[in-house]
Amino acid sequence: MNVDVLVIGAGAAGLMCAITAGQRGKRVLVVDHANKPGKKILMSGGGRCNFTNMGTTPANFLSANPHFAKSALARYTPWDFVALVEKHRIKYHEKELGQLFCDESSKLIVRMLLDECAAAGVEVRTSCAVNQVRKVEGGFRVGTAAGEVHATSLVVATGGLSIPSMGATGFGYELAKQFGHTVLPTRAGLVPLTLSGKHQERYQDLAGLALPVSEAKLGRQAFRAGLLFTHRGLSGPSILQISSYWQPGDDLRIDLSPDVDAGDWLIGQRADRPAAELKTVLGELLPKRLAQRLCELWFESRPMRQYREAELADIGKQLHDWPITASGTEGYRTAEVTLGGVDTNELSSTTMESRRVPGLYFIGEVVDVTGWLGGYNFQWAWASGHAAGEVA
Ligand code: FDA
Repeated sequence: MNVDVLVIGAGAAGLMCAITAGQRGKRVLVVDHANKPGKKILMSGGGRCNFTNMGTTPANFLSANPHFAKSALARYTPWDFVALVEKHRIKYHEKELGQLFCDESSKLIVRMLLDECAAAGVEVRTSCAVNQVRKVEGGFRVGTAAGEVHATSLVVATGGLSIPSMGATGFGYELAKQFGHTVLPTRAGLVPLTLSGKHQERYQDLAGLALPVSEAKLGRQAFRAGLLFTHRGLSGPSILQISSYWQPGDDLRIDLSPDVDAGDWLIGQRADRPAAELKTVLGELLPKRLAQRLCELWFESRPMRQYREAELADIGKQLHDWPITASGTEGYRTAEVTLGGVDTNELSSTTMESRRVPGLYFIGEVVDVTGWLGGYNFQWAWASGHAAGEVA
């Protein structure tokens, strides 16, 4: 079989690339080893797919080359994707901070992409493994479960390593290496952090307890959002966000009360309710069980009148700067994304084409561009897929 463009991976980036190339009149085939397309789209955003973020800027991405994503993101914006969603009459809403979700189901986004593929004459084959890829005169010869395919352009859209049970493989990285590309070390991102030993024992039984607002801080990076205690450690949006920046041994700190100056507040409470115990008072600033635990571990609980102002100011300081000794992350099993990947220095930032092998493209998560939590990763998948689809 001969095609103009063969896309490996029927995920967000691969389908967008196929649609764009198909609309240009190219003969496009998408193959995926999974039994259905867009599995990660289906499971995303708790089943409602946080399909973009209206505030997307290159600053919302991690990459060894922070400039790489600029061109593609500027040429396919969140507004472009929203226009597509609206064309298909999919209802959506903004949850917070520019995050757009489907009102109903992620299935509608996959349906929309497949309808666009059909309209553009793109063929999508699932349960179709790829075994061998060779560069030949005028293109690539690719061995697939459905027979050999000759393609003028080959687009690698196989995603990252997170959630192997959903079909994630390291195939894209292997292919990149086969063609002489550098693959930067990969690690799990947007992932819960684990605690161990006494650090775990101290907070383990708080599993399930949520703090609506916290600020996770690592160097100059800080994320203000919810925090969740788990059996193994810490999760919630602020932790997931900072996890992409965290490396073992890093000095991670949590502000448990970022919106209220805890020291001033405690001093005020001492004046208003001198007989109340610290743990009772703190239980109004923080979830009660957490306040109780901190009083067992960090500060002795006495009636407020027994504290000097400086002591309350110091308690406040500790609440704003809780040092976390994380032992690791939960890894790819629960990570939303994979950091690292195909080195952007060897790709064109306007087309995603390999600088080493003409006609070979890498898009989406397999590339060393990783977004924050909040719809940024899909926006990168759409934008990089579109950039490659315009030229492949
Ligand atoms: P993606 O992983 O989507 O697709 C890769 C495809 O390649 C898969 O279909 C896979 O089967 C196929 N493949 C892999 N190896 C292959 C091989 N050897 N042969 C053939 N096919 C192969 N992002 C966001 O912006 N908003 C959100 O709400 C969420 N939510 C979310 C929830 C969860 C639980 C996860 C795990 C992730 C998210 N994400 C997210 C991240 C987002 O899903 C992710 O960044 C994109 O799906 C990446 O798109 P890609 O197309 O690059 O890879």
